[in-house]
Amino acid sequence: MPIPNGFRKKEELNNKETKYELACYFCEKCGLVQLTVVVNPEIMFKDYVYIPSTSKVMMNNFSSLVHEAFIEKGLGEKSMVIDIGSNDGSLLTFFKTYDCKVLGIDPAENIAKLAELNGVPTETVLFDSSSAKKIKKKYGQADVITATNVIAHIDNLYEMFKGVDVLLKKDGIFITEFPYLADLVDKLEFDTIYHEHLSYFSLKAWKYMVEKCGFEICGLRRLQIHGGSIRFIHRRKSSKRNPAKKTIEYFLNFEEQKKLNKKETYDLFSQKVASLKNELTELINSLKKDGNRIIGYGAAAKGNVLTNFLNIGKDKLDFIVDSTPYKQGLFTPGMNIPVYAENRLQKEVPDYVLILAWNFANEIMEKQESYRARGGRFIIPLPEVKII
Ligand code: TYD
Repeated sequence: MPIPNGFRKKEELNNKETKYELACYFCEKCGLVQLTVVVNPEIMFKDYVYIPSTSKVMMNNFSSLVHEAFIEKGLGEKSMVIDIGSNDGSLLTFFKTYDCKVLGIDPAENIAKLAELNGVPTETVLFDSSSAKKIKKKYGQADVITATNVIAHIDNLYEMFKGVDVLLKKDGIFITEFPYLADLVDKLEFDTIYHEHLSYFSLKAWKYMVEKCGFEICGLRRLQIHGGSIRFIHRRKSSKRNPAKKTIEYFLNFEEQKKLNKKETYDLFSQKVASLKNELTELINSLKKDGNRIIGYGAAAKGNVLTNFLNIGKDKLDFIVDSTPYKQGLFTPGMNIPVYAENRLQKEVPDYVLILAWNFANEIMEKQESYRARGGRFIIPLPEVKII
């Protein structure tokens, strides 16, 4: 597979595209699922095209995270909040409504500039214990450290925790959220497996690591976002507070019952993915045979995985629409499908829209209600192929 956010300009289309193995290992000891190959992060994140602020669902989720931080820790003008993988500063903007001091950390220079424009100071470095030390010197320690949808991007998680340990005040909290392995398996979200996501966590695997790093989970909840995620609040082990004990037991038991820690679960998963691939391929082939026009919605990284895996090229999808200005005018990695602004859908009124960003399917269909009213149809690929 090419790197999933490796969109290309027209003049680059004839250049050879580097491809990397995409496969997972499952650890029968700690339950961690992880990629077999780690692509150099400099290649993936320096000129990054992903920004969250185009989605209402994501903004609501940020708002709920900040509220939870407020309940757990209290927030005010004396609070310092640091966000790892701060992207365009959207999450920190919500913390600013509580008058907190904020700092973003993100290696993507282009997007960090956007954050600065949003009034969010940002250090453009990869987060590890040595950058954490420099940041501590410059800004001091944080009351709250957040890391949303970035943990899976980090190869050396022990280093990351060392960095958190450096930057977090003694009684500070560390909040993180990422897609939950139980949802990935249940809903057949195979296309969320790609080079940027090095690890796929169950509670069992996450807890194993957190405790090795001198922290403990003191809060957790499942979230609907990104096809099903999980949010954790941590404190240092020494804090002697563990209000989440019962919830942790409940979830460990739930994972046991789901056989999330058994190899057979993943064998079955791969069989199901293979049959979904057949079904969707047949549907698209037969729609094309009948002369239908199909386009894609959401030039998501996961969409690039899906189109590459199913070999869906320009002969099947005329183009993909996407709300991210950075992606518009570019071509998708591997399949070279052009990406346009969303209003192109209303102009061209295709027969079918394949929702590649299925995690935002409801938000997208609501937004495009007038297309549906004109007879337009949506195809949702996962967890089972559905036409709406
Ligand atoms: P997302 O699923 O968040 O990420 P990933 O790249 O990790 O798979 O990507 C969603 C894409 O869908 C993103 O490029 C923005 C786009 N999008 C729209 O075009 N319109 C919308 O209304 C929404 C919510 C998203």
